[in-house]
Amino acid sequence: MANTCVIGLQWGDEGKGKIIDILAKDYDIIVRYQGGGNAGHTLIIGDEKFVFHLIPSGILHQDKKCVIGNGVVFDPKLFLEEIEGLAKKNINVNGNLFISDRAHVVFPYHKRLDLLSEKLKGDLMIGTTGRGIGPCYTDKISREGIRIAELLNKEHFKERLKKSVEEKNKIFVGLYNEEPIAWEDIYEEYCAYADKISPFVCDTVDLMARAINDNKKILFEGAQGALLDVDFGTYPYTTSSNSAAGGVSSGIGVSPKQVHNIVGITKAYTTRVGSGPFPTEVEGEQGEHIRKKGGEFGSTTGRPRRCGWFDAVAIQHSVRISGVDSLIVTKLDVLDDQETIRVCTGYENSGEVYNNFPADIDILSNCGPVYEEVPGWCEDTSNVRNAESLPENARNYIKTIERIVGVKVKMISVGPERSQVISL
Ligand code: GDP
Ligand code: IMO
Ligand code: MG
Repeated sequence: MANTCVIGLQWGDEGKGKIIDILAKDYDIIVRYQGGGNAGHTLIIGDEKFVFHLIPSGILHQDKKCVIGNGVVFDPKLFLEEIEGLAKKNINVNGNLFISDRAHVVFPYHKRLDLLSEKLKGDLMIGTTGRGIGPCYTDKISREGIRIAELLNKEHFKERLKKSVEEKNKIFVGLYNEEPIAWEDIYEEYCAYADKISPFVCDTVDLMARAINDNKKILFEGAQGALLDVDFGTYPYTTSSNSAAGGVSSGIGVSPKQVHNIVGITKAYTTRVGSGPFPTEVEGEQGEHIRKKGGEFGSTTGRPRRCGWFDAVAIQHSVRISGVDSLIVTKLDVLDDQETIRVCTGYENSGEVYNNFPADIDILSNCGPVYEEVPGWCEDTSNVRNAESLPENARNYIKTIERIVGVKVKMISVGPERSQVISL
């Protein structure tokens, strides 16, 4: 079986965690390769709820290996909290969880800079998760970041940290008029983290090369969604990594030739957290209804998610940039009581119709949706487990998505629980 990459096709929270957990049984290794603590991947197993930020969503399969790649910005405090939470639920991570020694480390000054930069932007704020993602990737690209290998080398780490804090203090004091920070406190705190994480740290390039050599099957778990990709998303209202499928190779250090199959996940409608254009957004009572029914509140920040109709223009864009082979549609059940369902097939702006996703944020922000309407099914689908038992209009809705997007749907999710899926 082929190595598979699973990505979100929208603005995140498509249900990647749930799907990865389901697919993981057929793979040997599950890899996170970009993003960081901004991700929140939820798994509901019976009465238990798990939310993973850094740890791959395959971790509940105790016979599999889980890897956090070099492309992830790694927050050791969050990681240790996550493994503590797992230990309380008797989930073992020793010997099956690996962290790349090349991953960049998130420090408290990244989080502080994240919040201060948002404040400074005022009305133009991105609405980040506040997890220090942008500033950590900024340091990486400007070659000022500190990697895990350096964190574990304590004398070297001390010198790098001192220099980094010195530079950040110029920004805190000079630009933001804030108090400077002391490197000593961070040093002590992070040396303690280093001791705790070191058993998990390894050369994941070697680990992956050996796995590929041994014909192990790999499942790559995307975070965020293609529309938050720093190159192809709604820039500057994006995250700071490549969340489309292109991020895999550089984020874990395997050849693009090793990604054989790309699965795109989309909700049956659309959501977005934070600012930025959202052409199919539905405000008022109907938007509120979808938010309540879908439990659309952020897994990481608890913020209410903005809700709207399925946007086929945006999905086609995501499909193109990632070469998506098949679709998984989640949260179909959330539309169970809608009499009419809308699908956006084009954008309209000042009399001009757009079928491609515009790069110009001003144009996109002023685009209105062109809709095709399909009848709803007004029946409960949450207990349906095979395609034949779906209401006819629900099947037709899935066919409409396939027709407009031009990619087959291979799985439908009808509830948060592991068992609530329909394979096609
Ligand atoms: P991720 O970031 O892509 O992993 O998605 P999140 O976990 O942030 O958000 C998805 C939310 O929807 C979670 O609360 C899931 O438990 C829930 N969920 C996933 N699939 C379904 C589904 O098919 N129906 C319903 N009602 N909820 C779902
Ligand atoms: P998962 O993996 C939804 C959004 C933030 C903000 C923008 C930039 O759970 O799908 P950042 O903190 O990355 O600098 O924020 O990106 N964002 C997400 N939205 N799901 C996510 O992850 C997200 N990760 C970041 O809300 O608009
Ligand atoms: Mg999420």
